[in-house]
Amino acid sequence: MLDGKKTLFSGMQATGNLTLGNYLGALKNWVTISDEYQTFFSVVDMHSITVRQDPAELRRRARTLLTLYIAAGLDPEKNCIYYQSHVSGHAELAWILNCFTYMGELNRMTQFKDKAAKHADNINAGLFTYPVLMAADILLYQADVVPVGIDQMQHLELTRDIAIRFNNLYGEVFTVPEAYIGKAGAKIMSLQDPAKKMSKSDENPNGSIYLMDDPDTIIRKFKRAVTDSEACVRYCEEQPGIRNLIDIYCACTGKTPQETEKEFEGKGYGDFKMAVGEAVLSVLKPLQERFADLSKNKDYLDRVIKENAQKAQYFSNKTLRKVQKKVGFPDRIR
Ligand code: TRP
Repeated sequence: MLDGKKTLFSGMQATGNLTLGNYLGALKNWVTISDEYQTFFSVVDMHSITVRQDPAELRRRARTLLTLYIAAGLDPEKNCIYYQSHVSGHAELAWILNCFTYMGELNRMTQFKDKAAKHADNINAGLFTYPVLMAADILLYQADVVPVGIDQMQHLELTRDIAIRFNNLYGEVFTVPEAYIGKAGAKIMSLQDPAKKMSKSDENPNGSIYLMDDPDTIIRKFKRAVTDSEACVRYCEEQPGIRNLIDIYCACTGKTPQETEKEFEGKGYGDFKMAVGEAVLSVLKPLQERFADLSKNKDYLDRVIKENAQKAQYFSNKTLRKVQKKVGFPDRIR
């Protein structure tokens, strides 16, 4: 607990271009709840190298992502926005936690199994211990809450288990974090296959709206979005395509599905798709403008990057020193 506020930690990987799903499902929520917490939002570039990356591309994407955090409305004076790789404590704590995590636990992680199957030529030890680095991210800042998607719940559970195990051995060292599951589930699905989550790694670019897509592209993708056969704008299980579009529309306008059904009563899919496209544009245009402005201001961004890394280093060191002492590392001579 810092400044009487609870601490919140979250992070995103800079692999792939961020989609509307990442924005509506995560980033936008971060902005909404950030005032209530002492926050740390990391660009988790160390996690990214568990699969092969082009170095220049990773660097560029990491900077883009960090800039997007700010463009989305996270004030970097109030929120600690930083690169994971700039704060040495993540790797140091991850090592220690590795020694408190069982092979059996990591073997059960479904994301590891999925990724190992997908990258059969590169099943490296980092991919296996990825959840331990994630635990280190969270525990390093004594986070009380962690906003995560459902796909990361298993990793958060493991984080809690590691924290509890460590605390049982050494006393109350770590805060045991809780998941923060966003309210109205803005889980955005692919525009081409509403059974699949909208993903930055989708091979079909028409399924995803990227935050940097230009207006024509956005409208075109919505026009091509897969719909259903009832030919009316109704929010129901039988119309997963339309339901997804209604979810997007509601997330962008603040309307409810019921209001949306009323608004488009008697209208066809075509009108509705255009309206969804326009609603998305009205959200993404200001975001893109802020992004462009920020990107021009290299000195400002560099200062944010430097100062927030120092701040993160400061807070993380407090936990790290305590942990190092508990496990029996010799005191540092000053
Ligand atoms: N593994 C998370 C993901 O892919 C990213 C992440 C890394 C994270 N460290 C974290 C999320 C700590 C929350 C807290 O989505």
